[in-house]
Amino acid sequence: MAIDYREWRDGDDLALLEIWGDPDTAQARQFRGALAPSSNGRDGTPWRRCIVAEDVIDGVGIPVGAGVVYEASLHPELLWAYVEVARDHRRAGIGATLLTMLRREAAEAPSGVTKLRAKVEPGTAGAAFAEASGLKPIQRSRLVVVEPGALKLPVFPDKDYGGRPVSGENAGSDVVMDLATGSVELTDVVGRYYTSVHTWDSPGVLSAGQVQRLFLDELTGAHGAIVLRAQPESAFGAGVAPGKKGRIRAFAVSYAAAHASDSGAGQGPAGQDDAAPGAPTDVFIGHEPSLAADDAAEAVRDILALIAYQHPVMLELDDSMAALRAAVEPLLENGKARLAAAETLVVSD
Ligand SMILES: CC(C)(COP(=O)(O)OP(=O)(O)OC[C@H]1O[C@@H](n2cnc3c(N)ncnc32)[C@H](O)[C@@H]1OP(=O)(O)O)[C@@H](O)C(=O)NCCC(=O)NCCS
Repeated sequence: MAIDYREWRDGDDLALLEIWGDPDTAQARQFRGALAPSSNGRDGTPWRRCIVAEDVIDGVGIPVGAGVVYEASLHPELLWAYVEVARDHRRAGIGATLLTMLRREAAEAPSGVTKLRAKVEPGTAGAAFAEASGLKPIQRSRLVVVEPGALKLPVFPDKDYGGRPVSGENAGSDVVMDLATGSVELTDVVGRYYTSVHTWDSPGVLSAGQVQRLFLDELTGAHGAIVLRAQPESAFGAGVAPGKKGRIRAFAVSYAAAHASDSGAGQGPAGQDDAAPGAPTDVFIGHEPSLAADDAAEAVRDILALIAYQHPVMLELDDSMAALRAAVEPLLENGKARLAAAETLVVSD
């Protein structure tokens, strides 16, 4: 077998698709889309290097493998990498050669970032290859469906902050509120939460505009948000109506079907392809990052109970999301929540 390596050219995607067939995993499906001509990153497209491996038969090169490495503006401290080799050409060192070549390219990345990261599914050839290549798991991510009524609804006091009785249906109305997805207060807490659960792969400094584009504006499919607030307190003591609302403790943003998650990184809210009746709603749940761990866990559990009271919801659960894990893992154990897809590992140098 004589293998040649060259730069990616237009048309390689079709040639490779024919020889590769269906992708091994959801991650492979996602990252095949990143195979594209190399770019120096000057025209607004991210810096990218893409290499093709050809099997040369009778002087004619047939593409059998490809690898890509590229910068991402979100999570800029690592480079994304992806390698794929046709099934009948695997275990012959082509993947390892492509990765070595990508590393050489990465050493020249204009940002100066050289460390790679990739996504793999545990138990697959990709995961074994990553391990053999020295890429270690830095995060595990699970797509979870929480069944309706899995958690008990929170009980809100039947007296308001001023000690006045509130009737049953109004109980909690000063702590559970709808909020417009364009809200500055919501944008702020969503951005700080996302950053706080990504210390393992920093998103860099997120502007309010970026947070809107990633999670909240119309193009993300965000169609509503509710927040759980702290009880408002009056500066004049109990019995006097406070002028301000309490601080946000937790938030839940829901998305219409086919929410486009952040391209490549895939670390945003879960994606969903269809809107069949009874299909779970895609949600992004988080909390004020400065809350104490047990307070955050309680706030997240309560807001999850509220949004998953009558309808199933789907959410992305990273191991770094301690409060959400505290709410969801017991449900996975008792069968009131299930995995919607295989686990994903983010692996890195
Ligand atoms: C992962 C992939 C690119 C590997 O390509 P490859 O050309 O077979 O890789 P190599 O032959 O260079 O393998 C290098 C080493 O990785 C390990 N490895 C690769 N595939 C393996 C498998 N199926 N089981 C166990 N170990 C494996 C081995 O240690 C191997 O060395 P060895 O063959 O001397 O034992 C290929 O399986 C593939 O295209 N998978 C689907 C796409 C994917 O998941 N990509 C990973 C994301 S980066």
